[in-house]
Amino acid sequence: MIELSVVVPTYNERPNVGELVRRLHAALPDDRWEVVFVDDDSPDGTVTELRALAQDDPQVRCIHRLGRRGLSRAVIEGVLSTTAPVIAVIDADLQHDETVLPAMLARLKGDAGQPAVDVVVATRYAAGGSVAGWDAERARMSRFATILANRMVFTGLSDPMSGFFMVRRETFDLVVRRLSGEGYKLLLDLLASMPGPVRVAEVPYSFRQRLAGESKLDSAVLWEFSLLLLDKKFGRWIPARFILFSLVGVSGVMVHFAVLTLLFRGAALAFTTSQAAATVVAMTSNYALNNSLTYRDQRHRGLGWWRGLLTFYAICGFGVAANVGVAGLLFKHQGWALAAAAGALVGTGWNYAATRLFTWRAR
Ligand code: GDD
Ligand code: MN
Repeated sequence: MIELSVVVPTYNERPNVGELVRRLHAALPDDRWEVVFVDDDSPDGTVTELRALAQDDPQVRCIHRLGRRGLSRAVIEGVLSTTAPVIAVIDADLQHDETVLPAMLARLKGDAGQPAVDVVVATRYAAGGSVAGWDAERARMSRFATILANRMVFTGLSDPMSGFFMVRRETFDLVVRRLSGEGYKLLLDLLASMPGPVRVAEVPYSFRQRLAGESKLDSAVLWEFSLLLLDKKFGRWIPARFILFSLVGVSGVMVHFAVLTLLFRGAALAFTTSQAAATVVAMTSNYALNNSLTYRDQRHRGLGWWRGLLTFYAICGFGVAANVGVAGLLFKHQGWALAAAAGALVGTGWNYAATRLFTWRAR
């Protein structure tokens, strides 16, 4: 019987996974556990290494995901593939100290007079915990995000951003359908999605320095984090990406007017020429912004960028037609402002839905 499933997301961790499996065996001496790696088709061929490991170790499993990227969703998929009553989530890069796993498990079940809990978080920021080798900038970012997270979603935890935690299967099952799955912060997502109170405990550990490979947490972290918070706050009514998409749309209107003023007023070009140029510039800027903000996690680069731009132009063309059509129809019976607003809403809705299908495919 398997008591514990350790779920490990991987992206370009080829040099680390073998060592992690070795260390897991050392930390968890009995064999009532398994480790499930979830790899997003790492270009360094992590999956080849994982298959080799799984071939000579029945406690190792591997899920190979194609065409998808995303730490939280990868972990969710890993958890769903297991049947163990307890799940641990740990990074593959050896930064999380696997030797605290037994203490976490004991704490979850209740030990030394302490009650059982539903979630155990390994924390860097409580007495006994620490972080090695971070520069001041990264440390400041992490603390800022921690405070922000606790403001928006009160967790009472010292490290709500931890990627290293343990959860009971029944607790996970309570929220799995409500998870937004965006970004890196599955723990925060989990806690913010709970329908009622959960019992949470913390176990301190020292966050190690990464030896091989590199962090995938780049400038996207703050963005993904904001997306998650947006989604947790408003996602029940409006998808976070639609909010971003609409904000980009508003910026596009400003770009449009700026270019129009410049060409029509400044350079004294014909109105239609100026209007056409302004439309193209605004569409291009909308595309570029959506590509690097709204859909940052699946952004197009290189040739794909241009291909995406073409689909975006085509879709927005229909969007304009829908916008003008609806506004024109309503204008016969309503005031111009209402007609214009309805037109803009229908146009934006169309653009959002269609680009979700053709430009940045929903997965
Ligand atoms: N499957 C999959 N898909 N795995 C991914 C992806 C992805 O898109 N991106 C990253 N990973 C894997 C990495 O291979 C690694 O095993 C783990 O997720 C964490 O990624 P890192 O890039 O090493 O993140 P970090 O060290 O900067 O931050 C981690 O630790 C912090 C402290 O616990 C993350 O877990 C943070 O969420 C956490 O706050
Ligand atoms: Mn790491």
